[in-house]
Amino acid sequence: FLWVRNLHLKKKLPGPFAWPLVGNAMQLGQMPHVTFSKLAKKYGNIYQIRLGCNDIVVLNGYTVIRQALIEHSTEFAGRPNFASFQMISGGKSMTFSNYSKQWRIHRKVAQSTLRAFSSASSETKKNFEQHVVAEAMELVQIFLRLSANRRYFDPSHEFTVAAANVICALCFGKRYGHDDPEFRTLLGRVDKFGETVGAGSLVDVMPWLQSFPNPVRSVYENFKNINEEFFAYVKDKVLQHRNTYNPEVTRDISDAIINVIEHGKDSPLSKEFVEGTVTDLIGAGQDTISTVMQWILLFLVKYPTIQTKLQQHIDKVVGRDRLPSVEDKSSLAYLSAFIYETMRYTSFVPVTIPHSTTCDVTIEGFHITKDTVVFINQWSVNHDPQKWKDPQIFDPSRFLDESGALDKDLTNSVMIFSTGKRRCIGDQIAKTEIFLFTAILLHQCTFECNPSQALSLDCTYGLTLKPCLYTVTAKPRGKPLGIVS
Ligand code: HEM
Repeated sequence: FLWVRNLHLKKKLPGPFAWPLVGNAMQLGQMPHVTFSKLAKKYGNIYQIRLGCNDIVVLNGYTVIRQALIEHSTEFAGRPNFASFQMISGGKSMTFSNYSKQWRIHRKVAQSTLRAFSSASSETKKNFEQHVVAEAMELVQIFLRLSANRRYFDPSHEFTVAAANVICALCFGKRYGHDDPEFRTLLGRVDKFGETVGAGSLVDVMPWLQSFPNPVRSVYENFKNINEEFFAYVKDKVLQHRNTYNPEVTRDISDAIINVIEHGKDSPLSKEFVEGTVTDLIGAGQDTISTVMQWILLFLVKYPTIQTKLQQHIDKVVGRDRLPSVEDKSSLAYLSAFIYETMRYTSFVPVTIPHSTTCDVTIEGFHITKDTVVFINQWSVNHDPQKWKDPQIFDPSRFLDESGALDKDLTNSVMIFSTGKRRCIGDQIAKTEIFLFTAILLHQCTFECNPSQALSLDCTYGLTLKPCLYTVTAKPRGKPLGIVS
């Protein structure tokens, strides 16, 4: 009986034939998450592929992903020891380091500090919201300026600066002008980060490609430079904090982390982890938010009737004499539905950061050995036709019930922040930011697409999916609030 049971446990994972040397690398295509979903139809929701010399398990669909990340949460909480991951945040990243006792402490420090500066009390909540509102209003003014004489502009840079400013205000107590050349250059380069760490990126799984003069090598070199430059920037800011540190006054997240790591009792983390943590937070908080805002604006101009309906709802709830605030969120179900549909439809973090197994584990009868790389296909959850009617159609109203209220079961079914032990720690911050940015932009402006450009939903693949370049113009709606005439 035992023999039969063991035989069952060792059921071989299905998967496509892997070619020598490259494995399935050439089959991934431009959009690996779509390929992964297609392979799931053939091999089931759990299967194995090979990239270079790495066997990789791919998990698809809510049931299997939940089973792995929730029911076997510790077993699937690791990160692979990819060479590129060691280059991030000075080698002291929490996000990209493997599961360990030290990692658990590191994550707790990052999570509790972030909470302390965004939602711990009504005062910190208000403070955070004020930062976001100020950035949103700055965006309104810049967008209107860039639209003077009915000009069209590319909004991507402005969203990048706005998102970076919110997280920099929390971390350093400082924001930057949209025209600050040093900041713009730095952010422009950081934008390329996700190309290398996205699941299916080849530099880590085929490291031998680096010994040839080819594009993969330049991606790798570039990645190293980007990380060193970004880390040096954060290190400099943290040093300024260290030199002016006063235990009586915690000015921002940098101070709070210095306090816990360097002045806390028995902290197992050395002081370099301060810079590592702050770099992680800025990196994670900036790219994701600016990407989702680019998608949101794209959908607003692609579907002008949805834009008008959103504005009517906002005007009805908020009026024209004040700006939208977080308190309005519960009365703006259609706006929340629109944001959830943007996250579902685009699944702009299509595959999470690669995971790895921390020990041998069996799921669905398949045995997976310790240190196996695991890809979690979030896109497959959000496009599962058994869960979503016509998943390929963009329709915010799918999240509303007959009375127009938000269907919480459905919104909870959108998987974009992952789940389990590695779930995003910035999800609440992100939701507040996206809501306020979108509500304020819609309250203050009407956006139109450029008729001389075809509006496409095509995108580039990486850790985040970014829409291809598009331009818009913004028109003011009544007197812009917050601008002293
Ligand atoms: C990790 C999504 C915003 C901080 C992640 C992961 C995803 C994700 C998919 C990987 C989880 C995994 O590997 O299983 C998003 C999305 C965002 C967003 C969609 C915006 C819409 C933020 C913000 C912050 C943040 C604003 C912080 C300010 C982090 C950190 C991790 C992480 C530190 C690493 C967690 C770990 O490895 O334990 N996020 N994120 N994220 N996110 Fe976010």
